[in-house]
Amino acid sequence: MLAEAQLAFLQKHEKSTNLDDWTFRKAKTRELTHCYHDYPARMIPQIAGKLFDLFGRESGILFDPYCGTGTSLVEANIRGINSIGTDLNPLARLIARAKTTPFCIEDVGNLITQFNRVALGDMLSKIKEPQEIYGITNLLFWFKPEVIQSLLTIRSFIKEIKNDTTQLFFQIAFSETVRESSNTRNGEFKLYRYSKEKLEKFSPDVYGIMVEKLQRNFKGAKQYKAIIDNFKSPPFAKIYGFNSGENIPHEILSPKSVDIVVTSPPYGDSRTTVAYGQYSRLSAAWLELEEPAQIDRNLMGGSRSTKISKFPSEALNEKIEEIRLSNEKRALEVVSFYDDLYASMKNVAKVIKPRGYSCYVVGNRKVAGIVLPTNIVIRDFFECFGMEYIETFIRSIPNKRMPSKNSPSNKKGKLENTMTKEYIVVMQKK
Ligand SMILES: C[S@@+](CC[C@H](N)C(=O)[O-])C[C@H]1O[C@@H](n2cnc3c(N)ncnc32)[C@H](O)[C@@H]1O
Repeated sequence: MLAEAQLAFLQKHEKSTNLDDWTFRKAKTRELTHCYHDYPARMIPQIAGKLFDLFGRESGILFDPYCGTGTSLVEANIRGINSIGTDLNPLARLIARAKTTPFCIEDVGNLITQFNRVALGDMLSKIKEPQEIYGITNLLFWFKPEVIQSLLTIRSFIKEIKNDTTQLFFQIAFSETVRESSNTRNGEFKLYRYSKEKLEKFSPDVYGIMVEKLQRNFKGAKQYKAIIDNFKSPPFAKIYGFNSGENIPHEILSPKSVDIVVTSPPYGDSRTTVAYGQYSRLSAAWLELEEPAQIDRNLMGGSRSTKISKFPSEALNEKIEEIRLSNEKRALEVVSFYDDLYASMKNVAKVIKPRGYSCYVVGNRKVAGIVLPTNIVIRDFFECFGMEYIETFIRSIPNKRMPSKNSPSNKKGKLENTMTKEYIVVMQKK
């Protein structure tokens, strides 16, 4: 039986959806803890939610091998499903952890009041720390001196928080504050600095930004907590830093233990599609998370293949050959991405229970003007690993935060619209 608050939330949710609609044009995508932090190519919660409602009603465990900020983990947890997520990006994991943590509302509320008081008084004494942040080589290029001063002061407030979970709540608000008060252009995922003219006028109210984030997130935390508190034994969320291309250790997941996988893998390698590492670099460095600069090289497709592999997908082999004829280097980049995807899907298939589902949300990107049919590739690869095809739902992308243009030819100045459609490929283990 679903408890009242949870049932009310899910019903409200359902009203705005119908079974044929996967676009969710008017849906509110920032309710509950989904409001906490932006992230490139975030899945919208309604997709994960609807997949659980269609295929996961009886599920005990969700696995998301590319959990990012934990959208599917949150949606699983509010339905009483335990969740396990892995991602190589430490900032994404930190956000996912925060989004799935039912914070102690009283503690967080008290500390927000304390922070407001301090912020109103423009902080206690100004912190004198060496103005160096490990992981940011040219600090003054990315932040104005007065911004650095305020960020240092806020960071030392956060470091003094004794309780680890409450500290986590503040770290997430701080991470977005770092991004917004940096000299990087708004609405970009890569690190581009404001123009000289823009920079002259740029004078962010760092404490004001932090207070606004704290208050917004506090509202989300209360909504989430109200739902989770209704469960007699609250569902867990476990999040690991793990490369999806490697064998999944039994301590994380044993074979045939997962009821449903709901995930959105990257569209391609970080260099030519979404640079998750670059997006996270400044925040991760300020938060002293591990190796902020290295991430992109380790993500899917990050290490270049040296030969053109043949894949168990004719559709893919054909497209790679077409690309190779015009540009061998680009063909090899494509191969390296699908090599990694293949390895990770093999691992994912192993941990799914018989009759369990996998739902992959993917986009078909263009390389050298040629569309790569990832929706078909997912089906072909999974069929090699004992999975049966169920259905593909197609949705247009009205509200996903993606770079609106990219350079599929990799030539400077040659931009094309990125994908306008996503495919939700559903498979079932035999
Ligand atoms: C499309 S995003 C997932 C977004 C997520 N669904 C959300 O709503 O926030 C893809 C994620 O895959 C992660 N990733 C890429 N390559 C990986 C790998 N080899 N192992 C684990 N995670 C990887 C990236 O760090 C990124 O967070």
